[in-house]
Amino acid sequence: NNIAQWCDAIFARVYDHREILKLAQYNKIPIINALCDQHHPMQALADFLTIQESYGRQKCKITFVGDANNVAFSLLEMGLKLGYAMAFTGPGCYFWNDTQLHYFSDLVQKHGGSFGADTNTALIVPGSDFIYADAFVSMGEEDDYDSKLSEFDGYQVNSELMNLAGSSAKFLHCLPAHRGEEVTNEVIDAAYSLVYQQANNRRVSAKGVFSYLLDNSKATTTSPGL
Ligand code: NVA
Repeated sequence: NNIAQWCDAIFARVYDHREILKLAQYNKIPIINALCDQHHPMQALADFLTIQESYGRQKCKITFVGDANNVAFSLLEMGLKLGYAMAFTGPGCYFWNDTQLHYFSDLVQKHGGSFGADTNTALIVPGSDFIYADAFVSMGEEDDYDSKLSEFDGYQVNSELMNLAGSSAKFLHCLPAHRGEEVTNEVIDAAYSLVYQQANNRRVSAKGVFSYLLDNSKATTTSPGL
């Protein structure tokens, strides 16, 4: 409540999602999740702006390859809420749990998109219009770097995987990228890579969120989910 007297909104980047919930519980001003261990909704907004700039409003297939992490969760959640065909492939030891899988299935039921997830990239990647990658090792996991990295063998986005997706597939990444780990130079630097357009859209979409929330007529509630 003290901080809420000094500013109009709080844009918080935290480790633990419970910190965001706590901020929302004790403040009447908008609380915006700028990244936590479970969600990255501001990134997903920039991602779907980029996808629509590139593909129009048609519902295409978007596949996340790698870790079932914060970026993947928000991408799948937003895509399914918008009715897209969302897909995921990654190693079994860093996969979605049953609660998360049920949540994604419920979103399909409600919004009419589709969701496919499997550890086998060959079953998931073909026919993708967008392939999305993020770091294999996220914030706070640095101590597990070597062991975690070895589990992701076979999930690098390289030319072979992009060819499997299809000749018109585009590449997305939230950045920062770890070249040679989750993505090769030839993919991230290719003409089909949209990563810098995405990065610019972080600014564009964040301005949209701020102007929406700071317009008093619209900012009636805080949103712990966002
Ligand atoms: N998954 C990454 C995203 C960085 C924007 C992390 O949490 O570190």
